[in-house]
Amino acid sequence: MAIGFVGTGRMGAMLVRALLGAAQPVDEDIWASNRSQEKLEELSILYARLHIGRSLDLARECRTLFLCVRPEDTARALEEIRPALTPNHLLILITNVVELDTLAAAVPCRTAKVIPSYTQFVRGGVSLLIPGPRCRPADVAYLRDLLERVSRTYELTEPQARAATNVVSCGPAFLARFCADWAAAAHEMQPDLPLADCEMLVRETVRATIELPRAGIDAREILDEVSTPGGMTYEGLKAMDEVLPAMWRAVMQRTAERERELRAAISMEPRAQQALGAASPQ
Ligand SMILES: NC(=O)c1ccc[n+]([C@@H]2O[C@H](COP(=O)([O-])OP(=O)(O)OC[C@H]3O[C@@H](n4cnc5c(N)ncnc54)[C@H](OP(=O)(O)O)[C@@H]3O)[C@@H](O)[C@H]2O)c1
Repeated sequence: MAIGFVGTGRMGAMLVRALLGAAQPVDEDIWASNRSQEKLEELSILYARLHIGRSLDLARECRTLFLCVRPEDTARALEEIRPALTPNHLLILITNVVELDTLAAAVPCRTAKVIPSYTQFVRGGVSLLIPGPRCRPADVAYLRDLLERVSRTYELTEPQARAATNVVSCGPAFLARFCADWAAAAHEMQPDLPLADCEMLVRETVRATIELPRAGIDAREILDEVSTPGGMTYEGLKAMDEVLPAMWRAVMQRTAERERELRAAISMEPRAQQALGAASPQ
């Protein structure tokens, strides 16, 4: 059963690369299509095993299809593959913006949602798995087996997905920003400490702190060990208490609001899509 990726932008290409480069690469043939040919050709140069073609060819060749296009391009991409879609296909969305019921109403296939993460580039992190209408237990087992080659898999429901996506999928960007601002603040406080050195200090501290739970030291214990009451870390944490909970609440609210806006703006009618602008990650 070949696997197809419609769209080889950031996520589609990352998934192809992760699966073909996994410690246990998939046995299935991997196919990919993309609107513009350049990205597709670059990817096919890297992986001799990769078949490239038109999206309709993918739908004819592959029983599992990942739709890795932006929400506003979904209707058009579906239109291109629809003539070949059958109830034997498993069609997978990778965005929260398009709802599974909407997809299922537009196609005869079994459906599911997988929210990937850029962390799969290093074969880590978590893929969110949401079974959709007509999805069978065997489909879920198949997707789990596939995704666990490049990540952990966490199954959940569609209403739970926004909060979890904010962690596993938006998370790499949120953490990257957090660390960059932290290094910049250290450099601002002490300009003769070069920014690149401050970035290295943050990176190595984050790297080692992540290892502590593996040594049986959890977050609560780290706080106890590092923050002596009345000391400087203790004071720094008090400053964080004033802003961090509110910051995370705002992050959660803003992403949810944006998802609702984008959902209201998209149409599954391909012609209406042409009028819509770009922008809309996970
Ligand atoms: N980026 C993330 O970390 C992340 C994580 C989880 C989920 N997602 C979701 O993944 C989806 C894609 O995001 P992305 O960041 O990968 O976007 P992207 O980099 O813009 O990639 C989208 C790709 O789809 C191609 N495409 C558009 N219409 C097509 C069609 N009709 N047929 C075939 N290919 C078509 C585009 O081709 P062109 O080369 O012509 O533009 C582009 O290469 C979004 O829904 C996003 O919400 C993203």
